[in-house]
Order: sequence, then C-alpha cells, then structure tokens
Amino acid sequence: MNVHDSEKVIGTLRERGYLQVPTAEEAGLVLYNTCSIRDKAEQKVFNKLQNFKKGAKKGNQVFGVLGCVAQQEGEKIFDRAPHVSLVVGSASYTKFPELLVQIEQGGRRVTGLSLDTDEAFDTPYTRRDNPYRAFVTIIEGCDKNCSYCVVPFTRGPERSRTADSVIDEVRRLADLGYTEITLLGQNVNSYRDPSPKGWDFADCLEQVGLVNGIRRVRFTTSHPRDFTKSIVEAIDATPSLCNHIHLPVQSGSNRILDGMQRLYTREQYLERIGWMKAAKRPMAITTDIIVGFPGETDQDIADTLALLDEVQYDAIFNFKYSPRPNTPALVLGDQIPEEEKGRRHMQVQERQRMIQIQNNANYVGETYEVHAEFFNLATGQWVGKTTQHKTVNFSHPGGQGAQLQGQYLDVLVTRSGPVSLVGEAVGEAVGEAA
Ligand code: 5AD
Ligand code: SF4
Repeated sequence: MNVHDSEKVIGTLRERGYLQVPTAEEAGLVLYNTCSIRDKAEQKVFNKLQNFKKGAKKGNQVFGVLGCVAQQEGEKIFDRAPHVSLVVGSASYTKFPELLVQIEQGGRRVTGLSLDTDEAFDTPYTRRDNPYRAFVTIIEGCDKNCSYCVVPFTRGPERSRTADSVIDEVRRLADLGYTEITLLGQNVNSYRDPSPKGWDFADCLEQVGLVNGIRRVRFTTSHPRDFTKSIVEAIDATPSLCNHIHLPVQSGSNRILDGMQRLYTREQYLERIGWMKAAKRPMAITTDIIVGFPGETDQDIADTLALLDEVQYDAIFNFKYSPRPNTPALVLGDQIPEEEKGRRHMQVQERQRMIQIQNNANYVGETYEVHAEFFNLATGQWVGKTTQHKTVNFSHPGGQGAQLQGQYLDVLVTRSGPVSLVGEAVGEAVGEAA
C-alpha cells in the first residue's frame, strides 16, 4: 500500500512537470514516505531527516514527510525537524496537488492531516515502475479496531472506490500491456461498491479477472471476519484469479485473538481455511503471525504452533509485537520482554521452516506456469512466480539474453528448498517482453 502511494505521488508530481532524480542529494524537493505499522518508525524518520538537513541549510531543498508517521506525529514534525515544510498523512493524498501549490509559492508548515475524507486516493497519473505487474487500490482505510494496530489512526475509515473506476483502471492497464494485477486494501473483503451496482469484493475480484488481457489477479489483504466463501467460488470460476490467499490469523490462541479484538475464533478461522482447501485448484495459503502480544503464555504459543501444523501454510510473515502509539494494547499489563519475543519468534520460524521444506518438496517433478520477473546475475537463473506465488529460480537456454521479463512460460521444477523452487524452462515464452 505504501509503495503504491509513492507511485501515485510520483505520478502527480511528474504531471506537474517535476522530474525524478537518482539521489535525494540532487533533488530540489525531497519527500519521505513513511510506514508506522511496526518498530520505531518515528525514530527512523527523524534520523533520516537529520541526514537530509545538510541540504536544507544551504536553502536549496524543500522537505516533506508523507504517510503514516506524518499522520501520527503531525505538526510535531516541524518542531523536531524545522527544515521540513510539508507534512501529509496517508488519508490526505487527494489534497496533494493543492498542497504542492502552497509549497511552490514558498509555503512553510503546510499540512494535510485530516482523516475525514470520504474519497479514496485515485489519480490518473500513477507512475508505475514495473511494466507488467500493477497495484490497483480498491479500498482504503480500516473500520476494524485490532487492539495492536495503528492503521485506523493513520489511514482513517474505510472508503471504497466505485466499481466502474476500478474496472476502467484495470482495462487501461491491460491496454498498456500489464497482465498481472494486485488489488489492494487494508481489508479488501469489506469492499463495497458505493455506486448503485453495489458489488461486493467477490464480484469485483471476478470482474477484474474477466478483463481482456489480464492473466493473473492477486489481492491483499484479507480479514477473516469478512472473508466469504464466495471469494473461493470466484477463484474456482475464474482461471485468471490466482490460487493463493493471504489470510492473516495473528495467533492460534482464542484468548489472544480476543485480546487482539480480531472478532473471530480459531474455529471460525479454520472454517475459512476449510473452504480454501476444498477449492478446485490447490490453493496456496499464507498468513501473518504476531508473537509476544501482551499476556501471551507458553500455552498460547503452543496453540499458534499447532495451528501452523494444522493449516500447513505455504509461507508466513512472523512479527514480534510492537507497541504502537494510541492503540488499546499499549496500556495492557504483562508486556512480554523483547528477549522472550525473540525466542518465540525463532520457535515459530523454525516450525514453519520445516513445514515449508516438506510442502515445497511436493512440487518437484511437476511443471508450472511461471511469470518471469528478472535475471539473477549471481546465479545465472531467471526468477519468477507461479500463480500460487511460489518463487521459482529457473534456467533457460537463452540465459540473460532470452529477455523473459514479464513473460509466462512453463517450468519443470527439479529441486526445492524452504523458501523457493528451482527448475528449467520447458516451454515457449508467452507474452510480450517488457
Ligand atoms: N506489532 C507487530 N505486528 C503488527 N502488525 C500490525 N501491527 C503490528 C504491531 N503493532 C502486523 C500484523 C498485520 C501485518 C500487516 O503487520 O500481522 O497483519
Ligand atoms: Fe490493522 Fe486490524 Fe485493520 Fe488490519 S484489520 S489494518 S490489523 S486494524
């Protein structure tokens, strides 16, 4: 989401005649886009701004802070980093062009910090770096209140884009040669078309998958409470919808899920996993896990490990709980020491590594369609993804000169490891070289 915000901001700037330069030192305007989901994001931003300060002293650079840290810290940023002139939160990018005019006119302490926008940030000028894979935002903000999460405070309430504007953008992208689309939102499952059409997420997903020229559609991220069986049915019915679902569980313990205010139980979560496992094409399933939430016991971690065994995830993102400003969990007692969080993190990583080693071994000897991304000079192999989002490193007789980036081709998997597969191209490449 954050990367795509940058693509939109860059597009808006270019439209106004700005040019991108390779380094911050060469720039007249330096914008720092920030994410505050975990870690000491605020501190990192201020350290970075300190480094930038040299340019500001000479009076030849204008600085801005964008994104979630901007929203969170607000005008305090001007006090701590007086060389900053612009502070814009992630819910206020729609106002970005007006704010830019104020900056161009010499404005100091220009802010866009309101959360009460009812529009999603959409611009016709998005500047995408990747020529064949594109992010498309369908919903912004979040109406959930997970007790550890800063997003509702930094990105504001949910706003869905109209179905027509989503489909128009995907058609435009297909016409430009894009073949893979990732639909984005903090919680795509609560997408609801605000126009009279009233599509829900499954409708939107299916219709995006039917756009001519689009070969792969992914989406992120889902919330189990709002995840419907109709999503799996849409994937079953539409070959271009990738057979991969990322469904963050956060914990395998009902006690912790309750403390996290996740609004589902382990059993309800597993019911959704059951729908996916019954899908026609074998579905890759991935998740997010937080270890060390306040009050988490050895038994709770054992429940999480047992859940990993039961679901047999294809991959997980495993985070140590990070206290975030304003969130309800901040004031909970029984915070887990960092060292113990580290131990639990390792335990989860190790268990999942074993699962992935076994799971990935099942792919050896089979042929899969791979979307080639880039040539890895170090290994002399191409790197791409299957529809299940497995990374495949593969050799091709043409080597780097084969110019496969953006193309689809069949690859026979010959070896597997915990995080990726190795194989050989066995078919003709399909699609235009990027
Ligand atoms: N601490 C640790 N992980 C977090 N996440 C969100 N907030 C926190 C936090 N305070 C993780 C969740 C979420 C992912 C995007 O980031 O697992 O699904
Ligand atoms: Fe944060 Fe929960 Fe919303 Fe996800 S669903 S963005 S974890 S509040």
